[in-house]
Amino acid sequence: MTAMHQRYAESALISKERYISREWLASEYERLWPKVWQMACRLEEIPNPGDYYEYQIGTQSVLIVRENEDTVKAFRNACPHRATRICSGTGNTEGELRCPFHGWAWHLDGSVLEIPDADDFAPECLRRKDLQLSEVHIGQWGGFVFVNLSETPEPLLDFLGPVVEGLAPFEVDKMRLIRYRTTVMDCNWKVGLAAFNEAYHVEATHIWDLSGYAASRMNGVRRPARMSAAATDRLDTDNRINARDPQGRTPGSYQFLYETFPTHNKMRNVPELLTDSARLGDMGDPKKAALEMLRLQQMISQAHQDDVDYVEALSEVPGDVPSVKFFADVRRAVGAARGVDYSHIPDEDMVSAIDYCIYPNLVGPVSAGNWILFRFRPNGDDPDTCLYDVMFMHRFGENEEVPTVKHEFYSRWQDHDEWGPTIGQDLWNMGHVQAGLHQSSFTGLRLNRQEAGVRNFEKFIDRYVLADGDPAA
Ligand code: FES
Ligand SMILES: [Fe+2]
Repeated sequence: MTAMHQRYAESALISKERYISREWLASEYERLWPKVWQMACRLEEIPNPGDYYEYQIGTQSVLIVRENEDTVKAFRNACPHRATRICSGTGNTEGELRCPFHGWAWHLDGSVLEIPDADDFAPECLRRKDLQLSEVHIGQWGGFVFVNLSETPEPLLDFLGPVVEGLAPFEVDKMRLIRYRTTVMDCNWKVGLAAFNEAYHVEATHIWDLSGYAASRMNGVRRPARMSAAATDRLDTDNRINARDPQGRTPGSYQFLYETFPTHNKMRNVPELLTDSARLGDMGDPKKAALEMLRLQQMISQAHQDDVDYVEALSEVPGDVPSVKFFADVRRAVGAARGVDYSHIPDEDMVSAIDYCIYPNLVGPVSAGNWILFRFRPNGDDPDTCLYDVMFMHRFGENEEVPTVKHEFYSRWQDHDEWGPTIGQDLWNMGHVQAGLHQSSFTGLRLNRQEAGVRNFEKFIDRYVLADGDPAA
């Protein structure tokens, strides 16, 4: 049963302790993170033999190494001699892994290559099996490398379950990073994830600002301005929701479908509302309206300059077809021009984002050729901050040159003002949630049906953190 089929949401409040307590965070480090599959990096971040990527979760560091064209391995990043971290960040090892402290070295498969002055060690200190780099379970899906610190993990594809099938049409393995940013957010990692795990907030947080965007440009720290009267009129025209909802639900609950799985959850716009979406002609000059809407999509990386160029070059834009169909056709034509076939993807999935929340810490909207993926990780032992990665991915043609991507780091999210208006609004909310969680008057989170994904996620966390060592319980 999906969340939308339930008459009411569940009533139990969600404890706030899980977002603010150091003890809860310590329990997550002890019981959750060592047992779950975690996305470590994209394969394109380690394209050549000897390339490595250091993935960190709490105090644990995992070294992902490309051994050759076909094989990627992962190792515990600690030298068996005196524990030194063998590699940091990203780079290329030039064919061997060598500890910087005393020069112990390993082949890329983790077997011992060299131990300087081996004769000076007691033989029992140098048993070969103890000196191999300790291997970590690894899995690949969708162009990502996943790692699992457990000794006996379930197969990655079993864990990903419905995500694999749901995202198959989008061929995310063929997408490539076009921007990659990491920053520190002023909230618990689960508060950050939850901000993208429901669409209940869209009306209040985003639509007002998107509709009146020209008048209320987001600067990353300012709360969006209230919707202008003109924008109100336009919203009514665009969405035509209130008049059509027979049960008088809010526009948000009418507009989105939510699906919860035993692990992971999904949300998307109601397909029928998309296939019968507003006509460009209803919004004035169709071409002008199309370019304006593309501009909004561009702000959230769901459209790119080649979409804009394509529409610019059209002598006429039809005013009487649903806008979603028009934009789907544009995307297909732009794809075809670069040799990418989107003919198997229905109109309603082409340009409207489908959000999968991939437990424990990934979420983000995918459409034909684009995926913005957010990853949240706890930040050391501080429950009030988290590491936030934003991966913008885009589908290129076979012969197109893929730009080299520089991984950007910002120690404060406010120091960078190009998150895009909608993401900036989400980020603004997070610190305010975290501050409120500390108020003694606040007793716990009350979640509605649209927020069932948030509840489902917290139940997943409970399976690990509260199950006393049995993650399957
Ligand atoms: S700590 Fe690595 S070689 Fe000594
Ligand atoms: Fe949002």
